[in-house]
Amino acid sequence: MGNKTVSDFIVTENIKLNDTNYLLRLKAPDPLPIIRPGQFVNIEVKNTSEIFLRRPFSVFEMDYDKNILSVIIKILGRGSKKLTEVIAGDTISLIYPLGRHFTYPGKGERILAVGGGSGLAPMLFLAKESGLPAENVDLLIGARSASDHIDVNAYSQYGSLNFTSEDGTLGTKGFVTHHPLFTDNLKNYDKVYACGPEGMMKAVAREARKAGVNCEVSLENLMACGFGVCLCCIEPTVKGNLCVCTEGPVFNINELKWQI
Ligand code: FES
Repeated sequence: MGNKTVSDFIVTENIKLNDTNYLLRLKAPDPLPIIRPGQFVNIEVKNTSEIFLRRPFSVFEMDYDKNILSVIIKILGRGSKKLTEVIAGDTISLIYPLGRHFTYPGKGERILAVGGGSGLAPMLFLAKESGLPAENVDLLIGARSASDHIDVNAYSQYGSLNFTSEDGTLGTKGFVTHHPLFTDNLKNYDKVYACGPEGMMKAVAREARKAGVNCEVSLENLMACGFGVCLCCIEPTVKGNLCVCTEGPVFNINELKWQI
């Protein structure tokens, strides 16, 4: 398992963001290592006899002064639902840090970070950590409807905020690739980053490839162990079949064998 650690963290806050998303702040027992956008943790679901596998969640924020790591839990099934029921003072077991992070942009580059669903958290983390002035960073957040979006206004200090919704209730109507940032502007970026449902990431990858822009995506393949043992997260790549949990989850689209 390399330098990965298994520890009991204490829940310091569980904040409901909307009907399906919760923000958990978790205090580590020991000083946290540097964790970068795109890396993830595997969280144990306690007090249940029916859920055995840990659940992977991208890291959303790091507070090294307080030794707190935060994740956004999107309810996708029984395991994630159970995790949204924890209260301050509870302990939960994490394996961390896991996976390969996004490549940081170079000085003066312009980037577009595209997040959908549970892929929003690492995109916000990346915008905050990019080291770029806010005018060089565009965040594009897609969801089905306004009610599925969470409040991200605090991130306007790290980049411009842009939205799409499938029903047109917030931002541009349609998918992220229907937004003017894609239709009018894509060649202006040095890098495009994406995390979210596979269909969304493939659409982003297709447009980035057409525009000749460097693009990294964070895959959400099914995972169990999180450290390269169970082989349930395999992805075919130009370097052969790779474990997304150890060789990813972040890949350059040129490494993937996606038909796009
Ligand atoms: S989750 Fe087990 S090998 Fe990747």
